[in-house]
Amino acid sequence: MASVPPTVVPLDVILLGPPGSGKGTQAQLLAQRAGVPQISTGDILRAAAAAGTPIGRRAKQYMEAGKLVPDEVVIGIAQERIAQPDCARGFILDGFPRTLPQAEALEKTLQAAGRSVLIVLDLDVDDQQVTRRISGRRVCSDPSCAAVYHVDTLPSPCPLPEGEGRVRERRCPECGAGLVQRADDAEEAVRQRLRVYHGQTEPLIDYYESRGVLRRVNGEGDIEEVARRVWEALQAAAGGA
Ligand code: AP5
Repeated sequence: MASVPPTVVPLDVILLGPPGSGKGTQAQLLAQRAGVPQISTGDILRAAAAAGTPIGRRAKQYMEAGKLVPDEVVIGIAQERIAQPDCARGFILDGFPRTLPQAEALEKTLQAAGRSVLIVLDLDVDDQQVTRRISGRRVCSDPSCAAVYHVDTLPSPCPLPEGEGRVRERRCPECGAGLVQRADDAEEAVRQRLRVYHGQTEPLIDYYESRGVLRRVNGEGDIEEVARRVWEALQAAAGGA
């Protein structure tokens, strides 16, 4: 696999894909490798909800029901984040845009900043597979860590001393805080998120395809395998940009 980071600057990348397709996992790896920040609107909204800010309190009800937070709220958050100095050399967007109005707003924001090269990588994973991935997802309960795991790849929990009768608990290998399931990973919320994805976000595939900036990436297989495909797609897109 080519290991030289793409030389396109700014390297503005969008990761598209259904909930649970691995956008967050791959965005984090790609951001480290390409040396640009990962921007997850889901993480920003969850941190705001945990902090109890007015935006966070408003967003929480939508997120827990598996619905999209209104465009005007999310667009403002994304624009503010993209304007930060660390995004001058590019960014990896994870979870934004998710609707056509969001995609149009992003296009205008980038154009106004004189940025035109955009690479869109679509992680292709079927509904059955994403449902399996989401049902096993566990996240760190400390919002400042927010590491993401899957029960299949976590180390076994340490046995508690005999006789205490407590439930054995898995802890975050990064920071030691408890691991929890996200409120919107409950079965009904996941079904709703998939309906929302197919209805409102999937049309963005055609939107970006018609602009000639879309690359499809097979998102099935283990994390390293998908990371290799994502990197190759990025290299190919940046080379042809
Ligand atoms: P957000 O946090 O963006 O959720 P999502 O898009 O539904 O995506 P997920 O975080 O569920 O999954 P992912 O694709 O990142 O997969 P992950 O890497 O974690 O948004 C949450 C909510 O916020 C939305 O529902 C909405 O309410 C609101 N929101 C956010 N942005 C918004 C916007 N722009 N507009 C409006 N509302 C917005 O992986 C999943 C699991 O699989 C993990 O356990 C992981 O370890 C595992 N895994 C990953 N890759 C693999 C692999 N290759 N093989 C096996 N397991 C894998």
